Amino acid sequence: MKIGIVGSGLVGATAAYAMVMNGIGRQIVLVDLNKERAQAEADDLYHAVPFASPLEITAGDYEDLAGCRVVIIAAGVGQRPGETRLQLLGRNATVFKQVVPAILNAAPDAILVVATNPVDIMTHLTARYAAQMGVSPDRVLGSGTMLDTARFRALLARHVGVDSRHVHAYVIGEHGDSEVLVWSMVAVGGVPLLEFCNDRGITWNDEIKAGIENRVRNAAYHIINGKGATYYGIGSALARVVDIILHDQRSILTICNPERNVAGVEDVTVAMPHMLGGNGVIGEHNPLSLTDEERSQLHHSASLIKGLITDLIE
Ligand code: LAC
Repeated sequence: MKIGIVGSGLVGATAAYAMVMNGIGRQIVLVDLNKERAQAEADDLYHAVPFASPLEITAGDYEDLAGCRVVIIAAGVGQRPGETRLQLLGRNATVFKQVVPAILNAAPDAILVVATNPVDIMTHLTARYAAQMGVSPDRVLGSGTMLDTARFRALLARHVGVDSRHVHAYVIGEHGDSEVLVWSMVAVGGVPLLEFCNDRGITWNDEIKAGIENRVRNAAYHIINGKGATYYGIGSALARVVDIILHDQRSILTICNPERNVAGVEDVTVAMPHMLGGNGVIGEHNPLSLTDEERSQLHHSASLIKGLITDLIE
């Protein structure tokens, strides 16, 4: 199985590394404006293969994406310290006007996985450009709030002392400041959070809750301030998405995909729990039983993104 990665910066290269070390795919092609960087990343990554499993990884041009089953789009600029994801919109929207058609001209059957921020709007744009080339929106998805959901689960897991893979929690909406942590649905091993904590004598209060919420919402800002960028979490999320597609795993993830209606906002792209399989997104998002407050927050988040999409497209 052949995978393309357009944008061999820290996110793209780390996604490639996660795929190499997990034996995801059999051939990876890195494409970047900076050909020297792409070639150097490919060469360095290839030296990890003997420690993992056989896989070919090369640098190339758009035409080398021919035959790709999945193409990750991680091209564009990332946040500078203190910069919001939405502030990247103008610069990255310009980049995508060229990138998306170039990918689909080379790999018309590929599933496109968008990582570039602001990922919700970039995914909406990608789906629009792809639709003009006859590509169904089912084949265009973004990492959405997969990373935020992972952060939420990881921090909850640390507090309750349980494997994060057995903590069920969602972050939905914008991958950004208006995202919604769905506290009402948090469960540990199928047991609602408060009940689990009470049963096991684990302290839980508003201060702990606010602390976790703050760390989920502001994780990227803190990490970017400390080391300039985030890439291990998002790179691992992208590798997971590719693995799910390649093996038609029908997993449910908070990815973003063009939606008909989210909390009363029509034609918008924000993250909701979606099933993902071998041909891309399967059907509409899962219906969630949100509290009135959560639904109101989701309406605000979707309205914010819809407004930016409208301004950009009109
Ligand atoms: C973050 C970037 C990927 O949240 O948006 O770390």
